Amino acid sequence: MQEQQKIIDAAVAFVKEELTEAEGGHDWWHIYRVWQQARHIAAKETVDPLVVELGALLHDIADSKFHDGDENIGPAKATAFMLSLGLPEATITHVVNIIRHISFKGGNNEQTFYSTELGVVQDADRLDALGAIGIARAFNYGGFKNRALYDPGITPDLNMSRETYKKSTAPTINHFYEKLLLLKDRMNTTTGKELAIERHGFMETFLEKFFKEWG
Ligand code: ADP
Ligand code: NI
Repeated sequence: MQEQQKIIDAAVAFVKEELTEAEGGHDWWHIYRVWQQARHIAAKETVDPLVVELGALLHDIADSKFHDGDENIGPAKATAFMLSLGLPEATITHVVNIIRHISFKGGNNEQTFYSTELGVVQDADRLDALGAIGIARAFNYGGFKNRALYDPGITPDLNMSRETYKKSTAPTINHFYEKLLLLKDRMNTTTGKELAIERHGFMETFLEKFFKEWG
């Protein structure tokens, strides 16, 4: 147990260091919220707690969105870090599978890996994309990418491939229809689903007001 605490403490220090320059929606505090939420969801599931915590802590250390689409940097950095701690190969492989398979990327792709641990971390990550925090993160990301808030001439595209989704430059409001409002029906755990429904409702209220004020 004490051994596991040391591993977690080392992971926290490593992630904080890696994310010092991160965009506000993908910074240490995003990781912190996902980590705490994953622990909360995991309490009701049968999982390896160390895999859940490491998966949550390491899931965004090098998001491909911020690395020219390269999806191998995060897994490589996480592997090197876990090897330096002497973790068992099975743990390292499982955590890397979580990092590789957590992302939505348009949602139209076949899921090639699943475990309850991935389900828990994915739910925690998705919950951070919903509700008040989800709205704040979406507009922060849009600002970071210099996107329009909304453009009535550009309609949401619900059938994007993984590649089109990654290249999209659409207004931030479109992201609600292309991703955020779809998440509540894709939750893996009962706890995650309940929390997602509540946060979804708040986003619907926000959108109603947004369009009313738009005129
Ligand atoms: P994905 O799994 O879709 O690649 P992430 O889970 O890393 O992306 O996305 C995290 C958050 O980043 C989203 O929930 C949202 O807040 C923000 N984000 C990502 N793409 C966009 C976008 N096109 N417009 C606005 N926000 C975005
Ligand atoms: Ni994340």
